[in-house]
Amino acid sequence: MMSASVTISYESESDRDEVRALLTAAFPTSAEADLVENLRADGDMLLALVARDASRIAGYIAFSQMRAPFVAVGLAPLAVRADRRNQGIAAALIDSGLSELHALGVEAVFVLGDPAYYSRFGFDAGAATGFECVYSGPYFMIRKLTLGRLPVTSGPVAYAKAFAALE
Ligand SMILES: CC(C)(COP(=O)(O)OP(=O)(O)OC[C@H]1O[C@@H](n2cnc3c(N)ncnc32)[C@H](O)[C@@H]1OP(=O)(O)O)[C@@H](O)C(=O)NCCC(=O)NCCS
Repeated sequence: MMSASVTISYESESDRDEVRALLTAAFPTSAEADLVENLRADGDMLLALVARDASRIAGYIAFSQMRAPFVAVGLAPLAVRADRRNQGIAAALIDSGLSELHALGVEAVFVLGDPAYYSRFGFDAGAATGFECVYSGPYFMIRKLTLGRLPVTSGPVAYAKAFAALE
């Protein structure tokens, strides 16, 4: 997959140190880097993609299993190297991720983030209001991947257990 002058591929084991460095640099603390390691260790990571320029990792996105009334994942974390921002790399990672997840049979993706940004990709805060979890509120959004409606529009949902450390 080529986009924004990066190549997007599945994260491999040999990417892990570089992914940790990217996440530690992109966020105020190492909490997101630790989250990714815990999601892997728990077997809750469903899909992780890296965007590469030349031989370096320029961006990262992870999707982990959630408990929900349908097959759902949570998008987190998403990060792009500071010197490569505003070039569509995050957008390319989100687009690739959503099409991979659709192919895997995932029915919906939840995210906690800025609606002004994520609405570009079809994430909808209004559609998430019925789903209760610790992140419920104006920044909690859902992106449906099914062609038709989701089987239900409300009920409890929960992120993978590694997220508890962030609360
Ligand atoms: C957020 C982030 C992943 C965006 O990566 P990117 O590759 O620069 O994103 P894109 O090029 O696809 O999109 C850039 C657009 O997003 C907007 N944007 C970036 N961060 C944003 C934020 N936190 N809230 C709202 N909009 C944001 C930019 O203003 C830009 O808007 P424009 O297209 O109208 O000019 C990157 O800035 C980053 O790694 N930040 C630090 C980690 C982080 O906050 N992750 C988000 C967790 S939800």
